[in-house]
Amino acid sequence: MRILGIETSCDETAAAVIDDGRVIRSNIVASQLAAHERFGGVVPEIASRQHVLAIVGVTREAMRGDGYDWSDIGAIAVTRGPGLSGALLVGINFAKGLSLARRLPLLAVNHVEAHVYSVWLSGQIPTPPAPLLPMVALIVSGGHTELVLMLSPGHYRVLGRTLDDAAGEAFDKVGRLLGLPYPGGPSVERVARTLPQDIEPATLPRAWLPGTYDFSFSGLKTATLHMVSQSRGHARPPVDPASRGDTLAPLEPVQVAAIARGFQDSVVDVLATKLARAAKEFSARSVAVVGGVAANEALRAGVASVVDVDLHVPEPGLSTDNAAMIAAAAFFRPVTAGYDTDADPSLSWSDDATLSA
Ligand code: KG4
Ligand code: ZN
Repeated sequence: MRILGIETSCDETAAAVIDDGRVIRSNIVASQLAAHERFGGVVPEIASRQHVLAIVGVTREAMRGDGYDWSDIGAIAVTRGPGLSGALLVGINFAKGLSLARRLPLLAVNHVEAHVYSVWLSGQIPTPPAPLLPMVALIVSGGHTELVLMLSPGHYRVLGRTLDDAAGEAFDKVGRLLGLPYPGGPSVERVARTLPQDIEPATLPRAWLPGTYDFSFSGLKTATLHMVSQSRGHARPPVDPASRGDTLAPLEPVQVAAIARGFQDSVVDVLATKLARAAKEFSARSVAVVGGVAANEALRAGVASVVDVDLHVPEPGLSTDNAAMIAAAAFFRPVTAGYDTDADPSLSWSDDATLSA
């Protein structure tokens, strides 16, 4: 079946046409990065307005692909949550309009669950999904950090989740602490790579939360903050000692690199170790790392070095938010929605009646 997917849960306006949950006919993403950059984070009101401006053009482009038109589309899939409520509403109401006008079924999708289905879009995966299952998936993005055991489409067990910040959020905050460009994740990774081989990364703590598959990054973030202040206090004195306010010296580039590497090492160590342990405990046939942070090479290498089953990591354009994964999820696990479907900003796996957490 050919499905048109629509995604507007955060700061990407996206539409995609996907065949049988696996074959990408079109995958259009309009990033709002430039609109939010100067604020150092996503501004919900701006996000909603940008979605309104972009959604028609993005969908038209997705429908402009070769060899298909509206008469070939079998359903419209849209993200119901979790996400920013105003942003979600744009996509949901747009999808309802399309569904009504084109007389097509409307399918509602959980955005976090959909990240897992990005694995089936790589083109190299067998269908049906059974050969990969059970699969342990690590979903790491700016809004989520969850470790999930997938037994079959629609049948999951959430093994652990973050108790505070999401992994990507921690990267973004540490990027800001280090004075790096937004978003922090790619910046921290880039700078960490510049650490000379003969210089040790900063030593930062790991929150193991023994006996659980949960995660916590707030202690690491605070430890990083202390290290930044300490390093700045010990750095060269400011050029103008009479300057008011922040009188500490800026960090030297090598100090920034050492802290970025130490922070990244800590995050990767905990994520990879817990993913590998879960894969063993639940006899997984494969593991997956999905979501924006999956773009991090150190994380991919760290996971590859500790798991002994197949590792699936979608290409970067499918790891970050996109509508292809929304259409894929709707194909493998269709949830029919009525016109009274509302956005659910805090939709969790267990809130959805058909999911078993
Ligand atoms: O999945 P995504 O596009 O949006 C959300 O659903 O949040 O993920 C974006 C997050 C941001 O926090 C960004 O800093 C992080 O993914 N990210 C990275 C990297 N690339 C993106 N984090 C670490 N290393 C990267 N290379
Ligand atoms: Zn996401």
